[in-house]
Amino acid sequence: MFHGRTEELSFIQQSLFQTRHGNPQHFLIEGERGLGKSSLFLMVHQFASGQRPLADGSRLNFLVLSVELDTTQAFFDILRCLAVDFQRALSEKEQAKTMAREVWDFLSNWEILGVRYHKQDEALVQPYEVLNELVSRFAQVIARTKDTFDGILILIDEADRPGVKASLGELIKLLTEKLTKRGCDRLVIGMTGQPGLIEKLKASHESSSRIFTTLSLKPLHEDENKAVVESGLNAANQINPDLTSITPEALKMIAQLSEGYPHFLQEFAYKAFEADNDWVISELDVRDGAFGQNGAMNQLGHKYFNDLYFVQIGSDEYRRVLQAMAHYSDDWVDRDKIRAGITIKDTTLNNALQALKNRGIIIPNPTVKGEFRLPTKSFAAWIKAFFMFN
Ligand SMILES: Nc1ncnc2c1ncn2[C@@H]1O[C@H](COP(=O)(O)OP(=O)(O)OP(=O)(O)O)[C@@H](O)[C@H]1O
Ligand SMILES: [Mg+2]
Repeated sequence: MFHGRTEELSFIQQSLFQTRHGNPQHFLIEGERGLGKSSLFLMVHQFASGQRPLADGSRLNFLVLSVELDTTQAFFDILRCLAVDFQRALSEKEQAKTMAREVWDFLSNWEILGVRYHKQDEALVQPYEVLNELVSRFAQVIARTKDTFDGILILIDEADRPGVKASLGELIKLLTEKLTKRGCDRLVIGMTGQPGLIEKLKASHESSSRIFTTLSLKPLHEDENKAVVESGLNAANQINPDLTSITPEALKMIAQLSEGYPHFLQEFAYKAFEADNDWVISELDVRDGAFGQNGAMNQLGHKYFNDLYFVQIGSDEYRRVLQAMAHYSDDWVDRDKIRAGITIKDTTLNNALQALKNRGIIIPNPTVKGEFRLPTKSFAAWIKAFFMFN
């Protein structure tokens, strides 16, 4: 069901080719929640490891580490998580079975190191020594498998999650510098994170963000939206005895409601499919699926925005202000623009803006007084969908 992302995939494939020739170009994929960062990395993983062929039919053969970070992790935990996945990746590759004994020993001992670190005195293990060790094992594996593997690809999903204290920026900077010093030039790093990741990296090392080429994920295009829904239907039709189709109007409505956000698209399409009972998904099914009890809007709201939108705001007027702002996505909007979109008394508007600002639902422009914006584009898309029938 994966569609689109051709530019991103072609950039990353290019970067993998360059890594193979000793010129890695690290990449950072930035995007709001549900925009498809993890899905893109899943594709990259498959291409890089050779599970999926490239467009010309050839296959890459990278050793791929793939980790997902979380809020609890500190510097050492991230290193440990990389080492554990290094071990997994090696053990999965048939060609690596002949790997030198000492590399395997190191990787097994790593677990022990981690336990010791957690249970006893933290000072027992110096994270920087561990980093050095990890670098030397990467270098060793790359050198010993140069005739087999194209190199090592490290995919780090949700890189924005660890706190600033975990110093991910510094970790990456040191890792890449140490590898370069050792002449180990066939390792490439890809990261994903929500907007704000770059600032977080910079907070622990000013120049760490410059290591990466940043790609910002955008919503899918209209034809890609439709292709995703059609692929989903095809998949369902292969399993179900009765074939379901969708009207062009319904397809268009799903695309409109979701504004190209893959997660929205999946949710609206799935709920429309569920609401349908005559094997033809119509506009009415889309509408029922979206706005019915436990419908797509509710699901998405709970997952992403409910707290922001429903729980915190009791007043309909406040919601109207958000509706007016949603027309500008996450761009800056001033009072006049909001007033032009809705009928609202001046004092009510002022109170609403103040309350929304205090609750962190809208963001004030630090340089222009009286200008505000919604926190994310997807929040704007969801509000717009909400008011399409309200
Ligand atoms: N290019 C795509 N084509 C079709 N479906 C997609 C695509 N990208 C993502 N999806 C679907 O959209 C949903 C959200 O995608 P995904 O989990 O990859 O987003 P994410 O950016 O990693 O989200 P989060 O920030 O919450 O981790 C999933 O159901 C996924 O299958
Ligand atoms: Mg994800």
